[in-house]
Amino acid sequence: MEDKTFMATFQAIIFFLIVMTVILIGFTYAIGKVISRQEVDPAADNAAILEHISPVGQVAVSAGGEASGPRSGKQLAETVCQTCHGAGVLGAPKLGVKADWEARIARGVDTILSNAVNGIAAMPPRGGDASITDEELKAAVDYMLQSVGSKL
Ligand code: HEC
Repeated sequence: MEDKTFMATFQAIIFFLIVMTVILIGFTYAIGKVISRQEVDPAADNAAILEHISPVGQVAVSAGGEASGPRSGKQLAETVCQTCHGAGVLGAPKLGVKADWEARIARGVDTILSNAVNGIAAMPPRGGDASITDEELKAAVDYMLQSVGSKL
């Protein structure tokens, strides 16, 4: 008789635990669904956050915008290269000042171009801007040379 009571109680407890387990699994699953629905598109969230924290005004520091195709020689020469070649910083030959360029041109314009690509003395490779393509750099050098009546 006692055994029977014990078994009945025991079975009831086991049954109760099984039911609770199933309920908890279902509950966990439901919570998971709710959370994943909130995180549908983290990229969209990031875009929204960036939008909110972006400054009101933005200063364009690039020499013409990477997205809009190659920058012209003039654009580069008057921005990136101008930093040194405008006033002759570090002994850079000045834009439009023929005397600064004559000895260099005498060594050959091909040498001038390869020095602009690889750098020479205080002149950094590609004027220190690795994003400048071969084509753009060539145009910039050509623009500089044309400013003193020569060309590539
Ligand atoms: C950090 C300063 C600096 C920047 C920026 C710079 N240059 Fe120069 N550049 C120099 C200096 C200094 C020299 C002279 C090097 C020497 O011969 O001693 C020079 C020399 C040159 C020469 C002559 C090379 C030769 O063979 O004599 C060319 C061409 C040139 N730069 C092109 C460019 C172009 C194009 C850009 C922009 C994309 C540029 N530089 C940006 C400093 C600069």
